[in-house]
Order: sequence, then C-alpha cells, then structure tokens
Amino acid sequence: MFRKNLPLALVTLVIVFSMLLSACGKPAEEAKALSVGIVLPTKDEPRWIQDETRFRDALQAAGYEVEILFSQGSSAKEKENVEALITKGVKVLIICPQDGTAAAAAAEAANKAGVKVISYDRLIRDTAAVDYYVTFDSVAVGEAWGQYLIEKASGTGNNLFLYAGAASDNNAFLFFEGAWNKLQPKIADGTFVIKNSSEAIALKDKATLTRDEMAKIIGQVTTNWDFNTAKGLAEANLTVATAADKGTVFIVAPNDGTARAIADAFAADKDVTQFYITGQDAEKASVQYIIDGKQSMTVLKDVRTLVADAITAAVAYLEGSTPDKTTTYNNGVIDVPAKPSAIVTVTKDNVKAAIVDSGYYPASDFTNLP
Ligand code: BGC
Repeated sequence: MFRKNLPLALVTLVIVFSMLLSACGKPAEEAKALSVGIVLPTKDEPRWIQDETRFRDALQAAGYEVEILFSQGSSAKEKENVEALITKGVKVLIICPQDGTAAAAAAEAANKAGVKVISYDRLIRDTAAVDYYVTFDSVAVGEAWGQYLIEKASGTGNNLFLYAGAASDNNAFLFFEGAWNKLQPKIADGTFVIKNSSEAIALKDKATLTRDEMAKIIGQVTTNWDFNTAKGLAEANLTVATAADKGTVFIVAPNDGTARAIADAFAADKDVTQFYITGQDAEKASVQYIIDGKQSMTVLKDVRTLVADAITAAVAYLEGSTPDKTTTYNNGVIDVPAKPSAIVTVTKDNVKAAIVDSGYYPASDFTNLP
C-alpha cells in the first residue's frame, strides 16, 4: 500500500515540509565557520562582556561562527587559549591581552603557526609578532578627560586627583599621555594643583613625559583596573588630604568601573563639597550615574565599531589582503599598523542623544533619562 503510493507520499512530504519551513520563516542557514579565534581578557568587567556580546551579534548577523575565549585575568590561561585555537586551525587570532608584554609569547606562538595576529583594543608589546592593531584613539580619550576638567575649572589652585589604569596595559599609558597633554599646561600655570602624586608634582613642568616617567606616576596612582583597589586608593588619598585639599575636587578616573568606586569614596567624604570625575566605556551603571549626577562624564568608545573593524581586518587577512591603516603604534619593537576609531565625550547634556538615540542602549535600561 505504502509502496504503491510512494510518489504521492513523497510529494505530500515535500509539501508539508515546505509549508513548515515557510511557517518558520527562512530555512535556517548553516553558520559558516570563520577561521578566526577571539581571546578577551576577563569576564569580571562589563567592558569585555560587552565586546563579547557585540562580537556575537555582528558575527551572527554575518552568518559566521567563531570561538570566543576568556583569559580571566591570567596570562597563562591566555596562552593556553591561544594554543587551543592554533590547534583548532584558526588562521587569524583577535586578541586583547591581559598583560601587554606577557602576551608576546602567545602572539609569537601564533605567528610561528602562520596565524595572523590582530591586537584588539590593547597593544601587545615587545614583539614583532603583531600584524595589526584594532583600537580607539586612546590618547584622545585622555585628552577628552583633560578637556572636560579644564572646562569645569575656574581661577587657580583647583584640587586635582589623578588615577590611572594598570601598568601592564599599554592603554593606561596612552590615556595618561592624553590627559597630561591637556592638563600639564594647566598644572604648570597654577590652574590645578596635584594632590595625590609626588611623582606627578615633580614632573609638572615637563610637557612630554617619557614612558619611564609616566610609569613612575602610574606606579603611585594605579587602580590596576580594579574597583576595590580604586576605592582603597581614593580612601587612602582622602585620609592624607587636608580639608583645604578637598572642597571642590577634580578627578581623573581612568574608566567607568573605577570612576564609580572613586566617586563613591569622594561622595562619602564630608569635606568634599563638589567633585568632577571622568570615566570611559559608557558602562550602563555609569550612564545611570551620569543621569543621576554621581559621575560627571564618560567617554563612549562604540564597541560596535571596534568589532566591525576587527572583523573587517580578519576577513582582509583571510582573503590574502591587508587591512587599512592610517597610523602606526610602536610596541617597543615594531610600528604596528592601525586605523584608530573616534571617541565621544558623554555628559548629562548629551547622554540621551549619544547613548539612547544612537541605538547604543535602549532607554528602558535607564531611569530618569533627561
Ligand atoms: C580598555 C578600557 C577598559 C580598561 C579596563 C582598557 O584597555 O581600553 O576600555 O576600561 O582596559 O578593562
């Protein structure tokens, strides 16, 4: 019976199947495996979770499947991640190093295996095994902090507290360099007085600092990109500072996570009457802090752009060409080609336009949007 009606049964099957398919929309296309591996530093900071999400969104939209691994703050784990990806046969590695110098060994292993190495957001240092650097203009980030604080200050003798990122992160130097570019002339002319770094005070008349000089200052004011370290350091600085060092205060905070920790510490000090504090990353919690007047500004580094740049660069390598470059960054050994992306200063005045109207985050993520 079945055999007799086989053609009919087949036709029916095909019809039912195509009906099912049209009911479910387009037949699911198989995701193409892209021979690219991605290694990010840690899941413990919202910044890198955001990069992961934006990578997944972009790759899914393009119909690609790739592996994203986290190093959880460990250079050893990072090297294992890279080795695992090499074994799996990736042709391009997109890696944001936990520690810029320690990552050189992982980059060299990849390079030896014929894998192109794209340094993502943070530069891998002290090796020739880096092919390209996908980044924002990090000096411009620091300059945006300095510019913001200068615009808020008037007269002379304004109290300035400096905080920096981790010395193991090359970006901490670029951000600091940018801040110094803007602030140093205003420290030299007496507009600002540094309150928490004897090394910075000693160098206050020097417009351009060497890496070693910056390292000395960063050594005194590093947060290590860690909220608790930032909080502890701010509290220690406030304990030493006199009432006259407080009042209205200007604070260079190196990113949003540490800015919230430092802002909370300053807000809790009864001798601090008003403070202006910087940040970066436009983390949701900091966007809410800005709306609530608890953080003064952040710098939006649109991660969608960085992710798109990284994918474009990876595809260029897979197709046998080279990604566009507009400048280079010296990593201690070579000048690494790069095409840095622009950044945006965000304050309460433009938070709605820059964050919500731009489609970066939905309005429903925040309360009391202006
Ligand atoms: C990134 C920042 C981030 C910081 C801490 C830097 O290298 O550029 O966006 O806030 O690391 O993770």
